[in-house]
Formats: sequence, C-alpha cells, structure tokens
Amino acid sequence: MDKLLVTNIGLLATPLGTRARSGPDQGKIRTLKNAWILIEGETIAGIGQGDPFTQCVQMKESLAVLDAKGALVTPGLVDAHTHLVFGGWRQNELGLKLHGASYLDILASGGGILSTVRATRSAGMDELYWKARDALDEMLSFGITTAEAKSGYGLDMDTEIKQLEVIRKLNETHPVDLAATFLGAHAVPEEYQKNREGYIDFLCSQVIPMVAERGLAEFCDVFCEKGVFTAKESYRILMAGKEHGLIPKIHADEIEAIGGTELTCEVGAISAEHLIVCRKSGIDAMAKGGTVACLLPSTSFYLGSTYAPAREMVNTGVPVAVATDFNPGSCPSLNIQLAMNLACLKYKLTPEEMLTAVTLNGAAAIGRAEKVGSLEVGKQGDLVLWNAPDLNYLGYRMGSNLVRNVIKKGNILNLKAKEELLK
Ligand code: NIG
Ligand code: FE
Repeated sequence: MDKLLVTNIGLLATPLGTRARSGPDQGKIRTLKNAWILIEGETIAGIGQGDPFTQCVQMKESLAVLDAKGALVTPGLVDAHTHLVFGGWRQNELGLKLHGASYLDILASGGGILSTVRATRSAGMDELYWKARDALDEMLSFGITTAEAKSGYGLDMDTEIKQLEVIRKLNETHPVDLAATFLGAHAVPEEYQKNREGYIDFLCSQVIPMVAERGLAEFCDVFCEKGVFTAKESYRILMAGKEHGLIPKIHADEIEAIGGTELTCEVGAISAEHLIVCRKSGIDAMAKGGTVACLLPSTSFYLGSTYAPAREMVNTGVPVAVATDFNPGSCPSLNIQLAMNLACLKYKLTPEEMLTAVTLNGAAAIGRAEKVGSLEVGKQGDLVLWNAPDLNYLGYRMGSNLVRNVIKKGNILNLKAKEELLK
C-alpha cells in the first residue's frame, strides 16, 4: 500500500468529528504545531507532533515524504453548493444589471436561468463534460477536494439526465469527489409557462422516479422563490423526491422570504441554501431540524444584495457551511477563497468558524461528514497545504490563490510538489 508522510507542518488546523458543528463548537478547532500526517492508501493513518521518524519508524523504508516546509495544513475544502454543469455563459446580463435590471426581472423576461437552459439543451455530453472538467480543475487549484453539483439547466427529461450523467462521469474520472443533486425545480421551463401545475406533475411523476431509478442523484433541491416555486409547490416536489429516496435540500430566502426555510424541519432537509433574507422563524426551524445553513456570500457580493444573518445562525445553534454557488448567473466564480474572505468580513465569522464552514459543515451539508471534512485517523487523506502561516491569514489576504499543494486520497495533485518528494 502506498504511504505518504507529510512532515514539517507549521500548523495543522482542523475541526473534529463526523457531524456538523454548531454554536460555540463551530469555532472549536484542533491546532497542532510542528505536526506530521501519515496517509496509507487513501486514508489518514496517523497524526502527531515532533519527529515522525521516532514514532513511525517501522514504516520508514516504504514511505514517500513530503516536506511541508512550515506550511499551514487544513482538510481539503468542501464546496457544498455548485451548479457545475451548464452550457454557455451570461456575460450579456452584466450590462442589463448595470442598467438596473434585477435578477428576477431578467428571469421573468426569458433570460437568466432560462437562457442557460437553452444553451444546455443544445450542448452535447462531451461539450458539457469538458467545460465542467475545466471548472473542476480550477476548483481543485483553489483547494476544493469534494463538491456538490446540481442539475437544473435542462428542465426536461433528456437534458436533466444528460447533466446528471455528466456529473457521474466527472465523479468517475476527476480527482474531486462529487455529490449529485437533482434540481429539476430550478425554474418553470418556457413550454410550461402557462401550465406550471403540469410541470410539477411531470417532475413528480416522471423525472424524479427516473433519476432515482437510475441512481443519478442523492439529493433533490428546489428554487423556492417569488416568481419561481412557492413554498407549497416546493413541499410537494421535495416530498416526491423523498419518497424516491432523494434527500431534500432547498434554495430559500435568496431574494424574498416566502416560507422556504420554514419548511426545512417539516421535510427533513439536510441543508437550506442562500438564506440571505432569512427570518427568525426560518432560523428556528433549521435549529430544530438540525439543518445545515449553506451560505453563499459570493452570490450576495455579485447580486449586490445584503448578506445572510450568519452570526445569528451560529448564535442560535444552526451549523453554518459556506460554499461558492458557482453558476453562470448569480455567481460566476469558482474561487472558494473569495467566499472565505467574505465569510469573515461580511458574516463576521471568526477564521475558526469559517474553516469549519468550508470543511466539516460543508461535508455535513452533502452527507459526507463521516468520510471527509476533518483531519483525523480513519478519514480520507484530503488536505491542503497553504502559503499561509495561520487561519487568520486565510480570512485576511484577498485576491490571491493561497494554495500551495492539494493532496487528494493520499495523492499529491501538484507536479511541482511531486518533484520535491523525497523518496
Ligand atoms: O443559486 N438561485 C437559483 N439558482 C442559482 C442561480 C442560477 C442562475 O442564475 O443560473 C443560485 O443563485
Ligand atoms: Fe444555487
């Protein structure tokens, strides 16, 4: 079995556990100075401080050794909310935005999500695959080792399936691990504009059963928003998904609060996403249901809106995750480090709370907290070596990519570091 020893870690920082951390625990981080990590195969086999060779000397001969040269090391980052697979871009909307058109105005006039639906329907599998693969490479370069990916730019049987098949193929062929979410309820497609009930029937009776039968998604999401799907419609779609084994997630309170977050407890949602204008009743529902609040600060930045009440959520005992929301409309950014800056500067999360938000709580938002999200013996060997001395630096430096190396399942994914390997 291949073994990799990472030595000379200046500071190892990680949340601990196999579940989301909330309240004061969100900011509790284990830190070890002068540390080492041993990865055997794909799994972390040992963590310690000081000289590893006096402690794991019997493994010395068959080890590859990477000198971290004093770097900060954290778990690989988990991006728990992305719209990874889509055709085209929407840079044409920038001018409309600058002239005052709102996100919902653009959608209502047949642009926005609906224009990406047209581009995604007309794109072939290969085109979608290679485009999303480039995006995944970039995500990895920012330190993301696990991500969620949603469908939702097909809004018909074939294209929704096509997107989910692309996600499956990427998961099989790219080092970043993916969790797939069915988001057929992302908008009402043009051909159903006069028959929205008919579209919801179609989703519940045909598309959801097919997606579940083919094992193409783990989660079912709905865009619960004014002019998109009401809370009542969202409830129906999420329950239909649940009957077919798809775990509920919900886009809620992004622009207007129409009761989506309040549903989380009722439907047993694993996460609620956006929550920019979330009310106290929504925060209480998430706290009661143990739902992860998956917050997307780069979207607030891009939309020019306010920021989700993250501090109130932490203070109420709601576990907070932070993700990119990468998509062609409301957040054309793959840079989770920007979201990490904004989480500190705008949400007022401490750097420790922010680290939990992009690691363990992100993992919990996609049901992966037993496997990834922290550096502990038995978890997957996913880590980031940073060009940074401590966690404050990650919240503080802006606009640079601070990643030095990414290690995924014990493999160094950066050539330069591989050359530095001492055998
Ligand atoms: O998370 N809000 C809905 N979905 C995406 C935006 C999708 C798009 O504009 O293409 C979001 O912001
Ligand atoms: Fe989204």
